[in-house]
Amino acid sequence: MLNQNFSQKGVIQTSDAESIKSPCDGVTRTLLERDDYSEYAVSTTLVQFEPNASFDEHTHDYGEELLVLEGIFSDEHGNYPAGTYIRNPHGTSHSPFSKDGCKLLVKLRQFDKMDTRKLIIDTNKEKWLPGLVDGLFVMPLHNFEYENTALVKWDPCTKFNFHQHYGGEEIFVIDGTFYDEFGNYPKYTWIRSPHMSKHQPFTKDDGALIFVKTGHLLKSNNE
Ligand SMILES: [Fe+2]
Ligand SMILES: [Fe+2]
Repeated sequence: MLNQNFSQKGVIQTSDAESIKSPCDGVTRTLLERDDYSEYAVSTTLVQFEPNASFDEHTHDYGEELLVLEGIFSDEHGNYPAGTYIRNPHGTSHSPFSKDGCKLLVKLRQFDKMDTRKLIIDTNKEKWLPGLVDGLFVMPLHNFEYENTALVKWDPCTKFNFHQHYGGEEIFVIDGTFYDEFGNYPKYTWIRSPHMSKHQPFTKDDGALIFVKTGHLLKSNNE
């Protein structure tokens, strides 16, 4: 069990965290949250494919959500460069591989069964929308009931409003450094903040690009 108390904040700076082998050669994992250590875990993981590594064919029970961070991720359906956001709903299957290697953020078994929408978004090609404050830009990726997923781009020295997370908030820092009154979160930090937690985030000289999910922790909280 790792980071399974959803009423507590979880922070992992992945460059300091240990990576472990997966069942497939050339594929390693940095665990962020996991409800058991089997291959059937509800999990959030940073996954690294070495060049020419492949992963066994598998079916996505309760879905697979994936963000390509580096390199090119592939399966029998296509090639997905860094910046691609993918949702493989419940019941889909594939045999992934990477010719030149890649790094991915992967969330497994966390779809609502009614959320059957398959998505492949190349975020390099999508438009940014203005955010709630100057210097903030938003790219919505997906929403289902209370769950919202987006990329948020922060110009240097941008300050957001003090706010509360109904249903919690999960952030992965893709680039730059993200800050709030509790700490600083450099590139490739994972942050999960509980239902009804509050903060006032900001950036300094380097700005930030973050992957954000909100509203999705309410269910875990009530169970
Ligand atoms: Fe998969
Ligand atoms: Fe927040």
